[in-house]
Amino acid sequence: MGFDLLKGKKGIIFGALNDMSIAWKIAERAHEEGATFTLSNTPVACRMGEVIELGKKCNAEIIPADATSVADLENVFQKSMEVLGGKVDFVLHSIGMSLNVRKKRVYHDLDYNYLNKTLDISAISFHKMLQVAFKMDAINEWGSVLGLSYVAAQRTFYGYNDMADAKSLLESIGRSFGYIYGRERKVRINTVSQSPTVTTAGSGVKGIDGLIDFSDRMSPLGNADAQDCADYCITLFSDMTRKVTMQNLYHDGGFSNVGMSLRAMTQYNKSFDIDDLDSKY
Ligand SMILES: NC(=O)c1ccc[n+]([C@@H]2O[C@H](COP(=O)([O-])OP(=O)(O)OC[C@H]3O[C@@H](n4cnc5c(N)ncnc54)[C@H](O)[C@@H]3O)[C@@H](O)[C@H]2O)c1
Repeated sequence: MGFDLLKGKKGIIFGALNDMSIAWKIAERAHEEGATFTLSNTPVACRMGEVIELGKKCNAEIIPADATSVADLENVFQKSMEVLGGKVDFVLHSIGMSLNVRKKRVYHDLDYNYLNKTLDISAISFHKMLQVAFKMDAINEWGSVLGLSYVAAQRTFYGYNDMADAKSLLESIGRSFGYIYGRERKVRINTVSQSPTVTTAGSGVKGIDGLIDFSDRMSPLGNADAQDCADYCITLFSDMTRKVTMQNLYHDGGFSNVGMSLRAMTQYNKSFDIDDLDSKY
């Protein structure tokens, strides 16, 4: 059920790949809340049936772009303003990819060409998007821009690899550009630090099933799923959060503030249930 939270608002949603994608859920919710928007993803992803299906469902034009290409991003903002009939009110950056993770290169044996790509795709593209929008004056006053992050930006998680560095950079760009965009144009910029979530990008992380289970046991409210994330992002695009900017906002069921929970401790203690463990080792 919608509450008209985004009635009359225009936006651009980057990163919906399939119906597991966080951006996909956000697009569906934004549509329910009365927004009109365009969708963007890589040319390959845009040719896939699923993105076309989402476009039809949300009455949204699809504009392909490699988010590392400034020219492509200029085209997305230009075309979006033409299609939507003016400047936009919200932009979602829901993009991440690491070739080191994909090719199973561990953190102490990174391929530096891959690392450059990880940073460009997953973090610098956020800066490029903001710089293009700023120069084109493509976002209305009190507009809202969101990037999606993960707590590995602050703390080390086994297997998250160079994506941790990308997320640290993404959050820093959100703060640095948030200051300038807020000061000059009253546009707010935040990152949402989301629980581990079952998606195409998420499934590339080493040990993701264990991580999801651990996070869930650690979080007093349990993991936030993609649908929960969509609900939260809608509030951040709405006028109800006009003075929130330059923040990294945890959306993780409380995980980031827990050191050890009863549920996680109970599971951990099971590994010591063998009475004669000491005598064996
Ligand atoms: N899944 C999780 O556990 C989790 C947790 C916290 C944050 N996040 C973040 O959420 C965001 C969305 O990821 P998701 O989990 O929905 O997975 P996803 O795989 O559905 O989305 C990632 C998107 O990035 C796009 N992309 C990759 N390279 C691109 C490029 N060069 N140009 C444009 N788009 C490109 C992909 O096509 C895809 O649509 C990412 O930033 C991810 O790091 C995910």
